[in-house]
Amino acid sequence: MTVFDASCRACPRLARFLDDTNERYPDYHCRPVPPFGAPDARFLIVGLAPGMHGANRTGRPFTGDHAGILLYQMLHKHGFSTRDFSESADDGLELVDCRITNAVKCLPPDNKPVGDEINKCNLFLANELDSLPENAVVMALGGIAHRAIIKALGLRQADFKFGHAAVYDVGNFHLLDSYHCSRYNTNTRRLTEEMFDGIFADVRELLDNSAPAR
Ligand code: URA
Repeated sequence: MTVFDASCRACPRLARFLDDTNERYPDYHCRPVPPFGAPDARFLIVGLAPGMHGANRTGRPFTGDHAGILLYQMLHKHGFSTRDFSESADDGLELVDCRITNAVKCLPPDNKPVGDEINKCNLFLANELDSLPENAVVMALGGIAHRAIIKALGLRQADFKFGHAAVYDVGNFHLLDSYHCSRYNTNTRRLTEEMFDGIFADVRELLDNSAPAR
C-alpha cells in the first residue's frame, strides 16, 4: 500500500511547475514532499500542500513555511515534538506520536491545487488513513484537507461539513477540523493562537480518552 511516491509525476501541471521552480531555485527540494513522522503515530495532521519557499524548499511539511511557525510551537507545547521550531529536514527535530502529511504532496501554483490534482493525490492519503493505528486522531487543516479526507474515506461530503473544532468519528479514527494555520488566517485572526491551542488540547483529550472512534 503506497502512501507516498517520491518520483510521482502524475499531475502534468504540477510536474511542470516543479521543473520550472527547480530551474529558478536549483537548491530547493522541488519534488513530492514526503509525510514526516512515524507511520504508527496516533495523531496525523493533514495540511494542504507544500509552500514554495517552505516545504518545497526544505522537503519537510510546514518547514520553512510561515504556517509552520505556530504549528510547531503548538506541537511542542502539547508534547508532540521535541522542539518548537522546524528549520530543515535534517535539524534533528522529532515528532512524538505524531505525523504530518499534505492532501497534495507537490507544490501547486499560487498555493491552489485544482480538483483533478487533489483527486490524483487522494489515493496516497486514502492509504495513509488506512494505515492508522486504532483510535487515532486526524486533524484536518482547512476545508480542502477536510474534503480530501472525506473523499479518501468514500463518504458523502454533505454528511460531513467542515467546521472549525468540529469532531467526526469516521473510519476508525476521530477527525478534528481546524482552520488552516496559514499566514492569512493568523494575520486576520480567523485563527488565533488561543483557538489553535484549544484544538491541540482537544487532540490530547481525544487521544487520552481513546474511546473507540466506532
Ligand atoms: N506547508 C505545508 O507543508 N502544508 C501546508 O498546508 C502549508 C504549508
